[in-house]
Order: sequence, then C-alpha cells, then structure tokens
Amino acid sequence: MTGISVSFGGVTALSDVSLTVEPGQVHGLIGPNGAGKTTLFNVACGLVRPTQGRIVWRGEELRRLKPKQLTRLGISRTLQGVGLFRGLTVLENVMVGAHRHAKAGFFSALFAVPTADRDEARLRARALAALDELDATAYAGRYPDSLPYPVQKRVALARALVVEPELLLLDEPASGLSEDEMHDLGDLIRALSGRMSVLLVEHHMDLVMRVCDRITVLDSGEQIAAGTPAEVQADPAVTEAYLGDEVEVGAGADGREG
Ligand SMILES: Nc1ncnc2c1ncn2[C@@H]1O[C@H](COP(=O)(O)OP(=O)(O)O)[C@@H](O)[C@H]1O
Ligand SMILES: [Mg+2]
Repeated sequence: MTGISVSFGGVTALSDVSLTVEPGQVHGLIGPNGAGKTTLFNVACGLVRPTQGRIVWRGEELRRLKPKQLTRLGISRTLQGVGLFRGLTVLENVMVGAHRHAKAGFFSALFAVPTADRDEARLRARALAALDELDATAYAGRYPDSLPYPVQKRVALARALVVEPELLLLDEPASGLSEDEMHDLGDLIRALSGRMSVLLVEHHMDLVMRVCDRITVLDSGEQIAAGTPAEVQADPAVTEAYLGDEVEVGAGADGREG
C-alpha cells in the first residue's frame, strides 16, 4: 500500500501511509487507539476505499478491491471479533472458508458448500487438516456458541487458513486470550510465516515484538516509524506516542486489568 489516505466525511483517518508486507514476513501494525490501524487493515481487505493511494498485490495494482475478491487473490483475513456462523458446526464453518464465493451471510455460506461428493470430501479433508493445525479437531462437530471464546478464535483462524493464503491479515488475534494462549498464537504465527506473509494488527506489544520481522507505527493517522522491532522500540517518536498507554500498563501491573 502506497500513499494511502482515508477520510470519513471531514475526519482524516489516514494520511499518506505506506506499508509493504514482504513475502514470508510477519509485518506488525501498531499504534495508540484511534491511530488508524483498523482503517488501514480495512483498506487491505477492500472494506474501506482509500481517498488516495495505491494498492499493489503481486505486482498488479488493485483498483477496485472488494472483500469477496480476497480469497481468489490468495488473501485471507480474520476480523476483530470472531464471526463464525452460529447455525453451522465448526467443521462446516471451516469448510465454508474454503469456498471462493463464500460471502458474509448465513444462506450464501450454506449454499457455497459444494455439492459434488468428491469436492466435498476433499474440502472436508482440508478443513480437518486446518482444524488439526489449530489443535481444534476435537470440536469439529460442535456449534460455535457452545465453545469458549479462545477456541472460537482458533476456529476462525482455521477457516482463514483452509485456503492456504499467500497473505494472512489478522486484526487483534490476541484479544481475549490468556498469556499461555497468546504465547502459542505467537509460535503459530511464526510457523505460518514459513509459508505465507502475515499482516498483524495487535496492541499486545510483547507479542508484536516477538513475532514481527518489521513493524509500522501509526499515530493520529500518520506513519511515525517503521523498521525492525529493535529499531521501532528505540525510536523516541514511538515512546512519545505511547506515553499515555505506558502509564496504563503500569497501573495494570498493580493488579487491575487494562
Ligand atoms: N466509519 C468511520 N466513520 C468516521 N470516522 C471513523 C470511521 N472509522 C474510523 N474512524 C475514525 O478514524 C480514526 C482511526 O480509527 P481506527 O482506524 O479505528 O483506529 P485504530 O484501529 O488504530 O484504533 C479515528 O479517529 C476514528 O474515530
Ligand atoms: Mg482498531
């Protein structure tokens, strides 16, 4: 993404931001609340159309990127919540993720599951493999509502992986996870980077610093720093942007959750 600007009405959410996710790298996108992270993520998903700027994928400019084109382009995403279909089992939810025409709607999702037996068997096998990678095979026949939130998040990730994307977009994948679960998620993201690129929007700094190859820092819609985790951590502009947040982190150490 090059020179991306987005304004909502009169509000400038992003101003001339550029970010490139290199093949096989984990690229972190961080910044204080309201920095524009989700807006940039949504630009990458085709959910928000930039006012200015270019999106280039595999050397080709995507002029009218739409969410439903993502899978065909080799891009998968998970959203900030979970977004599983309540009326489908875990296995069916993951199988739906493999369908290139799968849309965000229960009925279109249901009809998107191919009917040819051979396709269905192959799809089922791929979905089970994706669940296995997320240690979630045991939940294949369950309905999402009956499962703890962290398990639902793993299922949502399995659904994003079932198409074997070249680029995986993750918005706050660690939210609601325990320290141990977050650590496992970090290991998983590192392992995935062996076969795909990852754009990681996340506010858990230790996770970001541990798993990312490169990091872009936004503040008030502007790009204030970019580089390796060490470079970004040493950048005074980043420390300054996070000053308010650091005070909160300190308060949390006294026993209060942030
Ligand atoms: N749909 C929208 N309409 C109007 N303003 C928006 C919209 N989405 C985001 N914004 C504004 O854009 C700025 C960046 O928001 P966001 O991308 O959600 O930040 P972050 O994810 O970093 O917290 C904020 O000032 C926010 O209020
Ligand atoms: Mg956000």
